[in-house]
Amino acid sequence: TAAEGAVYYLFGATGDLARRKLFPALFSLYKEGKLADNFAVVGLARRPRTNEQFRSDVYDSITEFCRYKADDTELWNRFAEHFVYMSLDIHNVDGFRQLNALSAELDAKFGIPGNRLFYLALAPELFGPVSFNMREGGLLESAGWHRLVIEKPFGYDLESAKKLNAQISQVFKEEEIFRIDHYLGKEMVQNIEVIRFANAFFEPLWNNRYIANVQITLSETVGVEERGGYYDKSGALRDMGQNHMLQMLTMIAMEPPSRLHPEDIRDEKVKVLRSLRGYSSSEEVRRNVVRGQYAEGTLKGKPLVGYRQEDSVAPDSVTETYFAAKVFVDNLRWAGVPFYIRTGKRLPVKTTEVVVEFKNMSENVLFARKHDLSPNLLVIRVNPMEGIYIKINAKKPGSDNAVQPVAMEFCQSCMVGINTPEAYERLIHDAARGDSTYFTRWDEVAAAWAFVDRIAEAWREDDSDLSFYPAGTWGPQKADQLLADDGFFWWPVN
Ligand code: BG6
Repeated sequence: TAAEGAVYYLFGATGDLARRKLFPALFSLYKEGKLADNFAVVGLARRPRTNEQFRSDVYDSITEFCRYKADDTELWNRFAEHFVYMSLDIHNVDGFRQLNALSAELDAKFGIPGNRLFYLALAPELFGPVSFNMREGGLLESAGWHRLVIEKPFGYDLESAKKLNAQISQVFKEEEIFRIDHYLGKEMVQNIEVIRFANAFFEPLWNNRYIANVQITLSETVGVEERGGYYDKSGALRDMGQNHMLQMLTMIAMEPPSRLHPEDIRDEKVKVLRSLRGYSSSEEVRRNVVRGQYAEGTLKGKPLVGYRQEDSVAPDSVTETYFAAKVFVDNLRWAGVPFYIRTGKRLPVKTTEVVVEFKNMSENVLFARKHDLSPNLLVIRVNPMEGIYIKINAKKPGSDNAVQPVAMEFCQSCMVGINTPEAYERLIHDAARGDSTYFTRWDEVAAAWAFVDRIAEAWREDDSDLSFYPAGTWGPQKADQLLADDGFFWWPVN
């Protein structure tokens, strides 16, 4: 269904996210008829820009980053007409009053019923002040709905997240707040629910009787790029762990919701986060969590500098660019099943994969005693390749009942004619329809911080466990030991 007509306010319209993700997402939605015709986009940033300049920025971004090309001039012109730009000092409420006047004009021009979606692609410390000024400037007085879409990071720890939440909650109700975790917008992450709950193959086996362990890998080949200033204060645990990784874990581990309704789904997800076994001491953190930082190395023959040599990174930084953890979900379904999660920059491949390793049939007198049976695996490939495959045991042709593992694969990315929507398209569309399923609710954010804070605290006390790994390798060897101690290993990713 098409979203209802609305004004979209893009705060941070001259920034990287707008250019790489948001403009292309809006264009794809428009092209697919998912944006109502009565919409307007107001680009907001401090820098002065004319409407024409702004439209030309949008055009360039689409040419470079969109999965559709803007080669149909008529369509492009119709789309671009909805874009206007206003230079705004976000600390000055007068600008917001002007913006309100502009909004009324846009409502009248395009027949928009006063619906307003505020997208803050800004530093989190600005979420509060901008929300207050929106209210003071009269922007929340229009007839329709008002929604706030915000980007991560949502705070730095539980305490700062609470402060941030208290500020925006003075202006917006929880159901009006859409906290983005773009991993939840990825097709294959959303597919986890379907794979689990719509398959007789998997649903009955999805518990500690049949599953030996779960491995979630989110590896990147990039370093910190130009984001050293932000990243050096954040590190992998906050940048990827608190949000994307724990969110994926909740999708794997949650109980079936009673209905496919946003609140029912999020109720189940938050229960998983609350069931995470918190590490009770710094010693326990060290035993279960491994951290690393990339040093000089090579990737595909290209020499790479170490993290400490990157721009805007302290030369003696102890920020982790890699972490791996063994996590337990303490509930009836998962008792005793380790979830191994790992993420890092400057690893050998860019991939996001979930491996569900099933228990071996140890009492299988027919085969297991005579042969080394490989466990069955279900592998969910999220990114950049999308698909799933299972590993099963079959007879080796021409042998006397020798067993070999074979793979059966569904490769979504290989299918001709499939042009998978980008995460941001899905999320903007959902926010504009008021569907908050794939956005994180405050209680989820708080529970995730509570878990992560304990790790960060132990790390702050003592940094002697930080290991260095050469760029282009799979991180510290200690991460292998985490699994080896339990008799497992990381399944190689593709
Ligand atoms: C972002 C992190 O949230 O996710 C980045 O801040 C990271 O550090 C990015 O590179 C990865 O996203 P994707 O979609 O490219 O896997």
